[in-house]
Amino acid sequence: MLDVIQDPAQPLTPSPAPDAPAPQSTAPTAEDSAFSRAADALQRHREPSEVWGDEREAVSLALRWAAAHTTVATDPKTTARSAEELQAEVGATITEDGIGAARAMELFDEVLLPATRSSEDPMNLAYIPAAPTRAAVAFDTVVSAANVFGGIWENGAGAIFAENQVLRWLADLLGWPADAAGVFVSGGTQGNLSALATARDHALRERGRRPGGGWALACASTAHSSVASAARLLDMDVVTVPVDDRGHLTGAALEPLLAEDPRICAVVASGGTTNAGIVDDLASVVEVAHRHGAWVHVDGAYGGAALASPSARERFAGIEQADSFIVDPHKWLFAPYDCCALLYRDARPAAAAHSQHAAYLDSIDRGESNPSDLAAHLTRRTRGLPLWYSLATHGTAAYAAAVDRCLDSARAVAEAIRASEHLELLVEPELSVVVFRRPGWTPAAYRRWSQRLAKDGTMLCVPTAFRGEIALRLAFVNPATDPWAVIAVLEETMREADGS
Ligand SMILES: Cc1ncc(COP(=O)(O)O)c(C=O)c1O
Repeated sequence: MLDVIQDPAQPLTPSPAPDAPAPQSTAPTAEDSAFSRAADALQRHREPSEVWGDEREAVSLALRWAAAHTTVATDPKTTARSAEELQAEVGATITEDGIGAARAMELFDEVLLPATRSSEDPMNLAYIPAAPTRAAVAFDTVVSAANVFGGIWENGAGAIFAENQVLRWLADLLGWPADAAGVFVSGGTQGNLSALATARDHALRERGRRPGGGWALACASTAHSSVASAARLLDMDVVTVPVDDRGHLTGAALEPLLAEDPRICAVVASGGTTNAGIVDDLASVVEVAHRHGAWVHVDGAYGGAALASPSARERFAGIEQADSFIVDPHKWLFAPYDCCALLYRDARPAAAAHSQHAAYLDSIDRGESNPSDLAAHLTRRTRGLPLWYSLATHGTAAYAAAVDRCLDSARAVAEAIRASEHLELLVEPELSVVVFRRPGWTPAAYRRWSQRLAKDGTMLCVPTAFRGEIALRLAFVNPATDPWAVIAVLEETMREADGS
């Protein structure tokens, strides 16, 4: 792949051959003006640094590789290797004099990147894969080149303004008021932690003191593991609420626990569980929790993207009154890693919980929209911008259509599984996760099947547990996944496995 990299001394825009005819004058396109601005910028080129020397080769190698790689097809066979193998092949890269950009780039392209798994492959249906638009991936490079400090308005105004437009789009999908606000953080774990820190701080301010026995949060056993992790970090107990027979957290199950345990200051509901894509009964959860003075946080890290589809919006009824919400655009909103949108219906408790104060920070204008005030961080990359660029490029209707495609794929595959004589569908998909089993298989048979398909690059589908039993799980977040290809793999390999 490195052969796409051209002479680094060449300008990034192609110049005409000396004997080429003069170009026809045509109206400038958006692309022309972007390139002419870039060319203008080149007139303001940096002098080689006295410390780093001339870095043009390093820049050109990296950017040309990025440009080429952004449109290269995924390779489903790339996979992890042991650290020992990599050490043997790569050797020492961190040396006193450096190994040089060409060698570093070569190692990355030929050894290091192939030792990673493509989360974007259309047949990668394990865990929660990824499917960023090419526009979003490309713009991530732009965000790096711009290198804006996104913590405070004074430094990042223009970039934060654009991020806020995306957050407003999400707030509108939630049905939240005009003064709802949020921030992009690195991922769902960080988003859940920051929201729950806000909830706990808010409860302390409201109630005036910590309850005997400390704080607690309530959630179903199906809540993501990051919720228990946040509780540990925040020194909160977790009160587990039983789910209904279809796996939902409900207000009815929550009510007696909230009534008897005043330590519970927050309830976490799932807007799409990771394992099975179940959306809790948000309307009843919000009603009961608020009646008992508890904060409601909705973890939509995976499933919150379905709010973008009018066909799925009804499942989230009640979210209009939740207090905080997260969605990871790197999961199902077609953005690259790492990106979590954290929103608050009323952001004032978040600012009270998270604003940092120090002598050197006192001149920050706290009247402005300062993203660093809304989560556990200060410095931040403007990681919402790749999503902004992609949304601005494609429009929200394309997002609704892309989410719908994934919902349709899940339904089509679930239907085929229901009709299959070899397989059993374990739960009706509410969003885009399909959970099923192969009656008669031992855990070892599941693992063998999964590993064989992974090794061949046919499909990535790993075992999970569902209601205490081993099962298989497919997560559809990639609109490029062909459900009929998935069905064909299941039919073929499950039949083969039957005969073995
Ligand atoms: C529902 C849910 N919440 C939180 C997380 C944690 O998100 P992250 O991996 O971005 O930290 C995940 C990750 O899969 C998730 O599915």
